[in-house]
Amino acid sequence: MIKIAPSILSANFAAMGEAVEKLSAQGADWVHFDVMDGNFVPNITFGPEMCKALRPLTDLPLDVHLMVEHPCDWIEPFRQAGADILTIHVESSERHLHRALQAIHAAGMKAGVVLNPATPIEACIHLLPECDLVLLMSVNPGFGGQSFIPETLAKIRTLRREIDARGLNVLIEVDGGVNPETAKQCIDAGADVLVAGSAVFKAADPAAMIRMLRG
Ligand code: DX5
Ligand code: ZN
Repeated sequence: MIKIAPSILSANFAAMGEAVEKLSAQGADWVHFDVMDGNFVPNITFGPEMCKALRPLTDLPLDVHLMVEHPCDWIEPFRQAGADILTIHVESSERHLHRALQAIHAAGMKAGVVLNPATPIEACIHLLPECDLVLLMSVNPGFGGQSFIPETLAKIRTLRREIDARGLNVLIEVDGGVNPETAKQCIDAGADVLVAGSAVFKAADPAAMIRMLRG
């Protein structure tokens, strides 16, 4: 079953609580939480305090995508804030990704790495045994509402093969430019989790959109 993770980056920031409260009834599986530091990416969003404030409003897993330098500094704050899943970029300043994934697990959260569009799949192969998921960026991180980069589909297929060949249980999550058309392409290529920001939050009927994305 494909999981849909609406990205609250595209929700109304002045009514974030309401947006998150509705997601479960609208059929979402995870809440995708985009953390940007204005350094790793050219934008700033929100951090652990926002996560803590939203945590009581939903039972859905909080999927925290760290687009920050020094991601390990944020493991403990996000654990305390009630995050369920923490993903870190292989392109970040963290040199010891394997140890970082172990630290996220030791903190009781699910762990994964994120690959930018320019980063080859090889960057995560030796980390797969430590990953619960790998997030493939299908846009350059920093902003919602960008167009899906079609080369991502080949990366999904390659990663699917590598995971299956090793008999591992690692989810493939895809983030950026997901709409009903690209969602179908990602699912056909072997994706398990689809992040969707503008598609869900700009839709007249978010529940119908979530159903449509799931295929
Ligand atoms: C981009 C973020 C995405 C973004 C996706 O840096 O990681 O999660 O919100 O937004 P859409 O679905 O609008 O491309
Ligand atoms: Zn994201």
